[in-house]
Amino acid sequence: MIKLAFIGYGSVASGLLQVLREKHSEHPFVLTGIHRRQGTAYGPFDSGDPVFGPRALTTGEFLDRCGADVLVELTTLNPENGEPAITHIREAFARKMHVVTANKGPVAFAFDALMKEAEAAGVRFLFESAVMDGAPVFNMVRHNLPGVQVTGFTGVLNSTTKVIIDAMECGASFEDGIRHAQRLGITEENYEFDTQGWDAAAKTAALANVFLGANTTPANVVREGIHGFTAERIRVLAAQGQTVRLVSRGQKTDAGIYLQVKPEILHRQDILASIGGTSNLILLHTDRMGILGTVSISPGVEQTSYGVYIDLLELVRYPSL
Ligand SMILES: NC(=O)c1ccc[n+]([C@@H]2O[C@H](COP(=O)([O-])OP(=O)(O)OC[C@H]3O[C@@H](n4cnc5c(N)ncnc54)[C@H](OP(=O)(O)O)[C@@H]3O)[C@@H](O)[C@H]2O)c1
Repeated sequence: MIKLAFIGYGSVASGLLQVLREKHSEHPFVLTGIHRRQGTAYGPFDSGDPVFGPRALTTGEFLDRCGADVLVELTTLNPENGEPAITHIREAFARKMHVVTANKGPVAFAFDALMKEAEAAGVRFLFESAVMDGAPVFNMVRHNLPGVQVTGFTGVLNSTTKVIIDAMECGASFEDGIRHAQRLGITEENYEFDTQGWDAAAKTAALANVFLGANTTPANVVREGIHGFTAERIRVLAAQGQTVRLVSRGQKTDAGIYLQVKPEILHRQDILASIGGTSNLILLHTDRMGILGTVSISPGVEQTSYGVYIDLLELVRYPSL
């Protein structure tokens, strides 16, 4: 039986606990402890909501007491440096624990270093939910495209900007669009992190680190947000059959790796414009398989939680790779 420890107990982690309970007869993972800002809880967690006691003084103390095989890191994204998640992950590797996360920060800021540390510890570092809310991207390449090289990618990966643009097309103001996105619960704590393109830049850096060997950070992504588009302009474009999407692009070229996040004016029939709201799309450019990708229609937090569960199943199947 594989023992798990959670750091972070927000929407994704509580959804994951529900999946673990529903699927217990198929895969009996055992949750040994949950550590969050408000406190710490230790198992068993048979049913009902976990009861939190005083907070463990350090992450190390928590992990030592849990004695788990896998750290499930589900803390809030820190868009500036990926901490404290990176430190949590290192503490787990130091204890020879595998790590599964939905937090894109560690992949965007420290992927190469963390992969090397995981390898040295003989454990795995998995993060399927970090970019497309659990829809297969990293696993698709890992398992379905052996021997294929990804040379670039194009993605529409930030939901908040799509919701704002959709709202403006329907007559709302930029600010109304933000409020609508906030009501849907999809914005970052500071919505400007979405509207100025930082969320998309973090996803772009994460994809570039994993697929293109970029060893980069979000600061190196050429970035422009959607603030230059007023509601009036969006409606004029809509009347012409056009819309705007915040597009992430990454490309390996002879001169190096080029990464950008920019709003693009697209014809309504462009595949990148074909999804709106919280839906996401990524196209991978490859050397052998042309361009192919993944679309996720209106994913919710359940899909993100399930993506983390998929990583746990990956560990059951392939504890080393
Ligand atoms: N929600 C989604 O649909 C989605 C989709 C893709 C990726 N993600 C990523 O998945 C991760 C979790 O998302 P979420 O929606 O579950 O977040 P959330 O609801 O905001 O929960 C975050 C959790 O992290 C805990 N936390 C923050 N700093 C901590 C620290 N220093 N030590 C211990 N715990 C700490 C918080 O503790 P308290 O509860 O005590 O405040 C909270 O339990 C994030 O990185 C997010 O970007 C989420």
